[in-house]
Amino acid sequence: MKGKFISLEGGEGSGKSTAIDFIQRWLESHKVPFIMTREPGGTPFSEEIRQLVLSSREEKVNDTAELLLMFAARAQHVAEKIKPAIDQGTWVVSDRFIDSSYVYQGDARGGSTQILDQLTEWAVGDYHPDATLLLDVPVDVGQQRVLQRKYQDRLDKESSLFHQKVRDGFLERARLNPHRIRIIDASLPLEDVIAQIEKQLEALVQSWSGGI
Ligand SMILES: Nc1ncnc2c1ncn2[C@@H]1O[C@H](COP(=O)(O)OP(=O)(O)OP(=O)(O)O)[C@@H](O)[C@H]1O
Ligand SMILES: [Mg+2]
Repeated sequence: MKGKFISLEGGEGSGKSTAIDFIQRWLESHKVPFIMTREPGGTPFSEEIRQLVLSSREEKVNDTAELLLMFAARAQHVAEKIKPAIDQGTWVVSDRFIDSSYVYQGDARGGSTQILDQLTEWAVGDYHPDATLLLDVPVDVGQQRVLQRKYQDRLDKESSLFHQKVRDGFLERARLNPHRIRIIDASLPLEDVIAQIEKQLEALVQSWSGGI
């Protein structure tokens, strides 16, 4: 049996990495074989592309160059890590995946949906997430949370307008894909966010297999 694929999405500081820690413990306690990964990145080669694309720099990065690098990293990630895991029955949990491209490189930067569809077909094929948890927070809340961190990457430093387009873009994708994308209200205290995630995980495994 193939492994299930869950992606975590949301803007900067929405709590994706915090949620992943909880999901990891939850899968361990349910004895599910899984790997955790992230985008951009996930393999040594793709992590090098991550460095390239996220590091702050003087030179303006062209939107098309950014988009293509994201997909170059993803093609490698799917072929070398995600596909082999799923094919051998291992679950995959990824901190960001395709929805981030549609929202950051599409809605926020103006990239064409048609091109994103074609690149997704090419780089991802049949290895789409079975479920996506969207951690939704108002932009100012997310920004406050990341400000507490020392390091800000090139995308963290974008304007509030950019981050508002990201939030709206994710919510629109959730509206268009209601079965796959589950919205989590991530503005609540952490314990409430975790409770929502746990409820969704339980519902998902129930729908997939009648329990684990
Ligand atoms: N529900 C919450 N309430 C308050 N603070 C939170 C909550 N969830 C996460 N945080 C804190 O907010 C900060 C950002 O969280 P986290 O790193 O998980 O976000 P992220 O979505 O992974 O961000 P990025 O996109 O930048 O990787 C962390 O310091 C975390 O402890
Ligand atoms: Mg994170």
